[in-house]
Amino acid sequence: MKKKIVLAYSGGLDTSCCIRWLQKKGFEVICFSAHLGSEFSPAQVRKKALATGAKKIYIKDLRKEFVSDYILPALKANAVYEHKYVLSTALGRPLIGKHLVDVAHQEGAKFVSHGCTGKGNDQVRIEVTVKTLDPKLEIVAPLREWHLTSRESEIEYAKEEKIPIAATKEKIYSIDKNIWGVSIEAGILEDLKNSPREDAYLFTKSAKKAPNKPQVVRIGFKKGVPVTLNGNKKDLLTMIEALNRIGGTHGVGRTDMVEDRTVGIKSREIYEAPAAWILLAAHRELEQLVLDKDLIAFKELVSLRYSHLAYAGLWFSHLKQSLDAFIERTQKKVTGEVALELYKGNITVAGRKSPYALYKKELATYGAKDMFNRADAKGFINIFAMPYIKS
Ligand code: ARG
Repeated sequence: MKKKIVLAYSGGLDTSCCIRWLQKKGFEVICFSAHLGSEFSPAQVRKKALATGAKKIYIKDLRKEFVSDYILPALKANAVYEHKYVLSTALGRPLIGKHLVDVAHQEGAKFVSHGCTGKGNDQVRIEVTVKTLDPKLEIVAPLREWHLTSRESEIEYAKEEKIPIAATKEKIYSIDKNIWGVSIEAGILEDLKNSPREDAYLFTKSAKKAPNKPQVVRIGFKKGVPVTLNGNKKDLLTMIEALNRIGGTHGVGRTDMVEDRTVGIKSREIYEAPAAWILLAAHRELEQLVLDKDLIAFKELVSLRYSHLAYAGLWFSHLKQSLDAFIERTQKKVTGEVALELYKGNITVAGRKSPYALYKKELATYGAKDMFNRADAKGFINIFAMPYIKS
Protein backbone atom coordinates (compact mmCIF):
# COMPACT_ATOMS: atom_id res chain seq x y z
CA MET A 1 0.00 0.00 0.00
CA LYS A 2 1.16 3.50 -0.83
CA LYS A 3 2.13 5.88 1.97
CA LYS A 4 -0.37 8.67 2.45
CA ILE A 5 0.85 12.24 2.52
CA VAL A 6 -1.17 15.42 3.09
CA LEU A 7 0.11 18.38 1.08
CA ALA A 8 -0.71 21.99 1.93
CA TYR A 9 -1.78 23.06 -1.55
CA SER A 10 -2.32 26.58 -2.87
CA GLY A 11 -2.99 25.94 -6.53
CA GLY A 12 0.18 27.76 -7.57
CA LEU A 13 3.15 26.49 -9.55
CA ASP A 14 5.24 25.21 -6.60
CA THR A 15 2.57 23.09 -4.99
CA SER A 16 1.33 21.79 -8.35
CA CYS A 17 4.81 20.47 -9.08
CA CYS A 18 4.89 19.06 -5.54
CA ILE A 19 1.88 16.82 -6.23
CA ARG A 20 3.62 15.11 -9.13
CA TRP A 21 7.02 14.93 -7.44
CA LEU A 22 5.51 13.33 -4.33
CA GLN A 23 3.59 10.82 -6.46
CA LYS A 24 6.82 9.87 -8.17
CA LYS A 25 8.35 9.32 -4.74
CA GLY A 26 5.63 6.74 -4.16
CA PHE A 27 3.16 8.73 -2.09
CA GLU A 28 -0.59 8.84 -2.35
CA VAL A 29 -1.16 12.60 -2.31
CA ILE A 30 -4.06 14.18 -0.49
CA CYS A 31 -4.28 17.93 -0.78
CA PHE A 32 -5.44 20.39 1.80
CA SER A 33 -6.16 23.94 0.77
CA ALA A 34 -6.95 26.76 3.18
CA HIS A 35 -9.11 29.53 1.83
CA LEU A 36 -7.84 32.72 3.51
CA GLY A 37 -8.78 35.07 0.70
CA SER A 38 -6.25 34.25 -2.03
CA GLU A 39 -6.63 35.17 -5.67
CA PHE A 40 -7.64 31.58 -6.59
CA SER A 41 -11.25 30.52 -6.09
CA PRO A 42 -11.83 27.27 -4.16
CA ALA A 43 -13.45 25.72 -7.26
CA GLN A 44 -10.35 26.47 -9.38
CA VAL A 45 -8.09 25.01 -6.71
CA ARG A 46 -10.11 21.79 -6.50
CA LYS A 47 -10.15 21.30 -10.25
CA LYS A 48 -6.45 21.89 -10.56
CA ALA A 49 -5.42 19.60 -7.72
CA LEU A 50 -7.47 16.71 -9.05
CA ALA A 51 -6.32 17.30 -12.63
CA THR A 52 -2.72 17.22 -11.42
CA GLY A 53 -3.22 13.86 -9.78
CA ALA A 54 -4.24 14.43 -6.17
CA LYS A 55 -6.28 11.55 -4.82
CA LYS A 56 -8.55 13.88 -2.91
CA ILE A 57 -8.66 17.49 -1.78
CA TYR A 58 -9.92 19.13 1.37
CA ILE A 59 -10.77 22.80 0.95
CA LYS A 60 -11.59 24.72 4.07
CA ASP A 61 -12.86 28.27 4.15
CA LEU A 62 -10.89 29.47 7.15
CA ARG A 63 -11.44 33.19 6.74
CA LYS A 64 -13.57 33.51 9.88
CA GLU A 65 -11.10 31.57 12.01
CA PHE A 66 -8.25 33.58 10.50
CA VAL A 67 -9.98 36.80 11.52
CA SER A 68 -11.02 35.80 15.03
CA ASP A 69 -8.00 33.76 16.17
CA TYR A 70 -5.07 35.28 14.25
CA ILE A 71 -5.81 38.73 12.83
CA LEU A 72 -7.73 40.04 15.82
CA PRO A 73 -5.11 39.10 18.46
CA ALA A 74 -2.42 40.63 16.22
CA LEU A 75 -4.47 43.81 15.89
CA LYS A 76 -4.97 44.03 19.65
CA ALA A 77 -1.21 43.61 19.98
CA ASN A 78 -0.55 46.30 17.31
CA ALA A 79 1.74 43.72 15.74
CA VAL A 80 3.82 45.15 12.90
CA TYR A 81 7.18 43.63 11.95
CA GLU A 82 10.08 46.02 11.52
CA HIS A 83 7.68 48.97 11.23
CA LYS A 84 6.42 48.01 7.78
CA TYR A 85 4.90 44.53 7.64
CA VAL A 86 1.49 43.75 9.12
CA LEU A 87 2.38 40.04 9.11
CA SER A 88 -0.36 38.96 6.71
CA THR A 89 1.46 35.92 5.31
CA ALA A 90 3.04 35.14 8.68
CA LEU A 91 -0.30 35.02 10.50
CA GLY A 92 -1.80 32.62 7.99
CA ARG A 93 0.91 29.96 8.28
CA PRO A 94 0.23 28.63 11.79
CA LEU A 95 -3.44 28.36 10.85
CA ILE A 96 -2.55 26.37 7.74
CA GLY A 97 -0.17 24.23 9.81
CA LYS A 98 -2.86 23.53 12.40
CA HIS A 99 -5.37 22.34 9.82
CA LEU A 100 -2.72 20.38 7.96
CA VAL A 101 -2.18 18.41 11.15
CA ASP A 102 -5.94 17.96 11.58
CA VAL A 103 -6.37 16.61 8.04
CA ALA A 104 -3.40 14.25 8.52
CA HIS A 105 -5.06 12.91 11.66
CA GLN A 106 -8.39 12.55 9.90
CA GLU A 107 -6.76 10.67 7.04
CA GLY A 108 -4.52 8.61 9.28
CA ALA A 109 -1.53 9.94 7.31
CA LYS A 110 1.93 9.83 8.84
CA PHE A 111 3.44 12.36 6.41
CA VAL A 112 2.74 16.00 5.64
CA SER A 113 4.21 18.27 3.00
CA HIS A 114 4.26 21.89 1.83
CA GLY A 115 5.54 23.91 -1.12
CA CYS A 116 7.58 26.49 0.77
CA THR A 117 11.03 27.42 -0.47
CA GLY A 118 14.09 26.24 1.40
CA LYS A 119 15.30 29.74 2.16
CA GLY A 120 12.12 31.37 3.38
CA ASN A 121 10.18 31.94 6.57
CA ASP A 122 7.14 29.93 5.63
CA GLN A 123 8.85 26.53 5.88
CA VAL A 124 9.86 27.51 9.42
CA ARG A 125 6.37 28.68 10.36
CA ILE A 126 4.55 25.65 9.00
CA GLU A 127 7.03 23.10 10.28
CA VAL A 128 7.38 24.60 13.73
CA THR A 129 3.58 24.52 13.97
CA VAL A 130 3.42 20.89 12.86
CA LYS A 131 6.19 19.92 15.28
CA THR A 132 4.51 21.80 18.13
CA LEU A 133 1.13 20.18 17.52
CA ASP A 134 2.22 16.67 16.51
CA PRO A 135 5.95 15.92 16.63
CA LYS A 136 5.33 12.40 15.29
CA LEU A 137 4.31 13.58 11.85
CA GLU A 138 7.07 13.35 9.29
CA ILE A 139 7.57 16.40 7.09
CA VAL A 140 8.59 16.24 3.44
CA ALA A 141 9.66 19.53 1.88
CA PRO A 142 10.11 18.93 -1.88
CA LEU A 143 11.53 22.39 -2.52
CA ARG A 144 14.48 21.61 -0.26
CA GLU A 145 15.12 18.33 -2.05
CA TRP A 146 14.29 18.49 -5.71
CA HIS A 147 16.47 19.52 -8.65
CA LEU A 148 14.11 22.35 -9.68
CA THR A 149 15.98 25.39 -8.48
CA SER A 150 14.27 28.16 -10.43
CA ARG A 151 10.82 29.15 -11.48
CA GLU A 152 11.80 28.50 -15.09
CA SER A 153 12.83 24.93 -14.33
CA GLU A 154 9.54 24.35 -12.51
CA ILE A 155 7.63 25.58 -15.57
CA GLU A 156 9.64 23.18 -17.74
CA TYR A 157 8.92 20.33 -15.33
CA ALA A 158 5.21 21.19 -15.35
CA LYS A 159 5.19 21.08 -19.15
CA GLU A 160 7.03 17.76 -19.30
CA GLU A 161 4.71 16.26 -16.72
CA LYS A 162 1.58 17.79 -18.31
CA ILE A 163 0.68 19.61 -15.14
CA PRO A 164 -1.92 22.30 -15.86
CA ILE A 165 -0.42 25.65 -14.87
CA ALA A 166 -1.30 29.30 -15.40
CA ALA A 167 2.19 30.64 -14.74
CA THR A 168 4.28 31.94 -17.57
CA LYS A 169 7.95 32.82 -17.55
CA GLU A 170 7.04 36.50 -17.80
CA LYS A 171 4.99 36.47 -14.63
CA ILE A 172 7.92 37.18 -12.43
CA TYR A 173 6.51 38.18 -9.07
CA SER A 174 5.90 35.74 -6.29
CA ILE A 175 2.65 36.69 -4.61
CA ASP A 176 0.93 35.59 -1.45
CA LYS A 177 -2.48 37.08 -0.82
CA ASN A 178 -4.94 36.82 2.00
CA ILE A 179 -7.53 39.13 3.51
CA TRP A 180 -4.98 40.85 5.80
CA GLY A 181 -2.65 41.76 2.97
CA VAL A 182 -0.65 40.89 -0.12
CA SER A 183 3.07 40.06 -0.13
CA ILE A 184 4.91 40.57 -3.40
CA GLU A 185 8.52 39.67 -4.10
CA ALA A 186 11.06 38.59 -6.73
CA GLY A 187 11.62 39.77 -10.28
CA ILE A 188 12.79 43.38 -10.61
CA LEU A 189 12.14 43.91 -6.89
CA GLU A 190 15.30 41.94 -6.12
CA ASP A 191 17.31 44.90 -7.33
CA LEU A 192 17.16 47.42 -4.51
CA LYS A 193 17.59 50.40 -6.74
CA ASN A 194 14.30 49.68 -8.52
CA SER A 195 11.16 51.21 -7.18
CA PRO A 196 8.19 48.88 -7.64
CA ARG A 197 6.39 49.07 -10.95
CA GLU A 198 2.66 49.66 -10.85
CA ASP A 199 2.00 46.17 -12.27
CA ALA A 200 3.37 44.63 -9.07
CA TYR A 201 0.37 45.72 -7.03
CA LEU A 202 -2.78 43.65 -7.01
CA PHE A 203 -5.48 45.99 -5.84
CA THR A 204 -4.29 49.28 -4.37
CA LYS A 205 -4.21 52.42 -6.49
CA SER A 206 -1.13 54.55 -6.70
CA ALA A 207 -1.43 57.61 -4.46
CA LYS A 208 -0.84 59.68 -7.58
CA LYS A 209 -3.97 58.27 -9.20
CA ALA A 210 -6.09 58.30 -6.06
CA PRO A 211 -9.14 60.59 -5.85
CA ASN A 212 -8.54 64.27 -5.18
CA LYS A 213 -11.17 64.24 -2.46
CA PRO A 214 -10.40 62.70 0.93
CA GLN A 215 -12.74 60.13 2.49
CA VAL A 216 -13.44 59.76 6.20
CA VAL A 217 -14.04 56.34 7.77
CA ARG A 218 -15.18 55.94 11.34
CA ILE A 219 -14.20 52.77 13.18
CA GLY A 220 -16.00 51.88 16.40
CA PHE A 221 -14.33 49.51 18.89
CA LYS A 222 -15.63 47.49 21.79
CA LYS A 223 -12.91 46.13 24.10
CA GLY A 224 -10.34 46.33 21.33
CA VAL A 225 -12.56 44.67 18.71
CA PRO A 226 -13.63 46.73 15.69
CA VAL A 227 -17.42 46.47 15.63
CA THR A 228 -18.78 49.35 13.58
CA LEU A 229 -17.85 51.04 10.33
CA ASN A 230 -19.31 54.52 9.90
CA GLY A 231 -21.76 53.77 12.67
CA ASN A 232 -23.03 50.50 11.14
CA LYS A 233 -22.47 47.16 12.85
CA LYS A 234 -20.16 44.93 10.83
CA ASP A 235 -18.51 41.62 11.47
CA LEU A 236 -14.77 41.98 11.25
CA LEU A 237 -14.35 39.97 8.04
CA THR A 238 -16.85 42.18 6.20
CA MET A 239 -15.23 45.28 7.66
CA ILE A 240 -11.76 44.20 6.51
CA GLU A 241 -13.05 43.51 3.00
CA ALA A 242 -14.75 46.93 2.88
CA LEU A 243 -11.67 48.75 4.19
CA ASN A 244 -9.46 46.99 1.67
CA ARG A 245 -11.68 48.37 -1.08
CA ILE A 246 -11.94 51.89 0.34
CA GLY A 247 -8.32 52.15 1.42
CA GLY A 248 -7.11 50.61 -1.83
CA THR A 249 -8.95 53.28 -3.81
CA HIS A 250 -7.11 55.98 -1.84
CA GLY A 251 -3.72 54.35 -2.28
CA VAL A 252 -3.43 53.53 1.42
CA GLY A 253 -1.41 50.63 2.82
CA ARG A 254 1.51 50.12 0.46
CA THR A 255 4.93 49.47 1.98
CA ASP A 256 8.26 48.68 0.42
CA MET A 257 10.78 47.06 2.71
CA VAL A 258 14.01 45.22 3.17
CA GLU A 259 13.18 42.74 5.90
CA ASP A 260 15.11 40.38 8.12
CA ARG A 261 14.08 36.79 7.52
CA THR A 262 14.16 34.22 10.29
CA VAL A 263 16.71 32.24 8.27
CA GLY A 264 19.15 35.13 8.56
CA ILE A 265 19.01 36.84 5.19
CA LYS A 266 17.63 40.23 4.26
CA SER A 267 15.06 40.23 1.51
CA ARG A 268 13.09 42.82 -0.40
CA GLU A 269 9.34 42.63 -0.32
CA ILE A 270 6.51 45.01 -1.06
CA TYR A 271 3.16 44.82 0.62
CA GLU A 272 -0.34 46.15 0.22
CA ALA A 273 -2.60 46.02 3.24
CA PRO A 274 -5.04 48.94 3.38
CA ALA A 275 -7.51 47.47 5.88
CA ALA A 276 -4.76 46.36 8.23
CA TRP A 277 -3.09 49.78 8.31
CA ILE A 278 -6.41 51.57 8.77
CA LEU A 279 -7.48 49.32 11.64
CA LEU A 280 -4.05 49.47 13.27
CA ALA A 281 -4.05 53.27 13.07
CA ALA A 282 -7.52 53.47 14.59
CA HIS A 283 -6.75 50.95 17.31
CA ARG A 284 -3.50 52.65 18.32
CA GLU A 285 -5.21 56.01 18.40
CA LEU A 286 -7.94 54.75 20.69
CA GLU A 287 -5.44 53.06 23.00
CA GLN A 288 -3.54 56.33 23.20
CA LEU A 289 -6.71 57.98 24.44
CA VAL A 290 -7.79 55.42 27.04
CA LEU A 291 -4.64 53.74 28.36
CA ASP A 292 -2.35 55.36 30.90
CA LYS A 293 1.22 56.15 29.99
CA ASP A 294 2.89 53.25 31.81
CA LEU A 295 0.62 50.77 30.13
CA ILE A 296 1.20 52.32 26.71
CA ALA A 297 4.98 52.21 27.15
CA PHE A 298 5.00 48.63 28.41
CA LYS A 299 2.57 47.43 25.77
CA GLU A 300 4.88 48.79 23.12
CA LEU A 301 7.61 46.42 24.31
CA VAL A 302 5.15 43.55 24.24
CA SER A 303 4.07 44.56 20.78
CA LEU A 304 7.62 44.44 19.46
CA ARG A 305 8.25 41.00 20.94
CA TYR A 306 4.87 39.79 19.72
CA SER A 307 5.61 40.85 16.15
CA HIS A 308 8.84 38.86 16.20
CA LEU A 309 7.12 35.77 17.59
CA ALA A 310 4.40 36.00 14.95
CA TYR A 311 6.98 36.56 12.22
CA ALA A 312 8.93 33.49 13.28
CA GLY A 313 5.78 31.39 13.38
CA LEU A 314 5.97 30.79 17.12
CA TRP A 315 2.24 31.32 17.34
CA PHE A 316 1.53 28.33 19.58
CA SER A 317 4.42 29.04 21.92
CA HIS A 318 3.80 29.51 25.62
CA LEU A 319 5.29 32.99 25.49
CA LYS A 320 3.02 34.15 22.68
CA GLN A 321 -0.04 32.71 24.43
CA SER A 322 0.93 34.40 27.69
CA LEU A 323 1.38 37.72 25.92
CA ASP A 324 -2.12 37.27 24.49
CA ALA A 325 -3.45 37.01 28.03
CA PHE A 326 -1.70 40.24 28.99
CA ILE A 327 -2.92 42.02 25.88
CA GLU A 328 -6.49 40.88 26.40
CA ARG A 329 -6.42 42.43 29.87
CA THR A 330 -5.27 45.76 28.41
CA GLN A 331 -8.27 45.93 26.05
CA LYS A 332 -10.94 46.28 28.76
CA LYS A 333 -11.41 49.98 28.10
CA VAL A 334 -10.47 50.12 24.44
CA THR A 335 -14.01 51.12 23.52
CA GLY A 336 -14.92 54.15 21.46
CA GLU A 337 -14.70 55.51 17.95
CA VAL A 338 -11.91 56.90 15.80
CA ALA A 339 -12.43 58.80 12.56
CA LEU A 340 -9.68 58.60 9.98
CA GLU A 341 -9.25 60.56 6.82
CA LEU A 342 -7.87 58.68 3.83
CA TYR A 343 -6.21 60.81 1.21
CA LYS A 344 -3.65 59.96 -1.45
CA GLY A 345 -1.92 57.18 0.45
CA ASN A 346 -2.16 58.85 3.85
CA ILE A 347 -4.15 58.10 6.95
CA THR A 348 -4.75 60.99 9.31
CA VAL A 349 -6.84 61.16 12.44
CA ALA A 350 -10.01 63.18 12.06
CA GLY A 351 -11.60 62.65 15.49
CA ARG A 352 -11.71 60.33 18.48
CA LYS A 353 -14.10 59.65 21.34
CA SER A 354 -14.48 57.15 24.15
CA PRO A 355 -16.44 56.84 27.38
CA TYR A 356 -13.10 55.87 28.96
CA ALA A 357 -11.05 58.76 27.55
CA LEU A 358 -8.35 59.85 29.96
CA TYR A 359 -8.05 63.17 28.18
CA LYS A 360 -9.55 65.91 30.35
CA LYS A 361 -10.11 69.19 28.60
CA GLU A 362 -10.26 71.11 31.89
CA LEU A 363 -6.70 69.95 32.62
CA ALA A 364 -5.28 70.32 29.12
CA THR A 365 -6.81 73.67 28.21
CA TYR A 366 -4.91 76.90 27.89
CA GLY A 367 -8.24 78.74 28.08
CA ALA A 368 -10.08 80.36 30.95
CA LYS A 369 -11.60 77.19 32.45
CA ASP A 370 -8.22 75.73 33.34
CA MET A 371 -8.34 73.43 36.41
CA PHE A 372 -4.65 72.48 36.39
CA ASN A 373 -2.90 73.76 39.48
CA ARG A 374 0.26 75.43 38.15
CA ALA A 375 1.46 76.13 41.67
CA ASP A 376 1.80 72.34 42.21
CA ALA A 377 4.15 72.10 39.24
CA LYS A 378 6.98 73.87 41.08
CA GLY A 379 7.19 71.32 43.91
CA PHE A 380 6.72 68.45 41.50
CA ILE A 381 9.68 69.59 39.38
CA ASN A 382 11.89 70.14 42.46
CA ILE A 383 11.40 66.54 43.50
CA PHE A 384 11.39 65.12 39.98
CA ALA A 385 14.76 66.75 39.23
CA MET A 386 16.39 65.66 42.49
CA PRO A 387 18.11 62.47 41.23
CA TYR A 388 19.72 64.33 38.33
CA ILE A 389 21.27 67.27 40.18
CA LYS A 390 25.02 67.26 39.61
CA SER A 391 26.97 67.62 42.84
N1 ARG B 1 8.16 38.07 3.45
C1 ARG B 1 6.87 37.69 3.88
C2 ARG B 1 6.94 36.82 5.10
O1 ARG B 1 7.95 36.27 5.36
C3 ARG B 1 6.05 37.02 2.81
C4 ARG B 1 6.56 35.70 2.31
C5 ARG B 1 5.85 35.17 1.10
N2 ARG B 1 5.97 36.11 0.04
C6 ARG B 1 5.63 35.92 -1.24
N3 ARG B 1 5.74 36.94 -2.02
N4 ARG B 1 5.22 34.78 -1.68
O2 ARG B 1 5.98 36.67 5.78
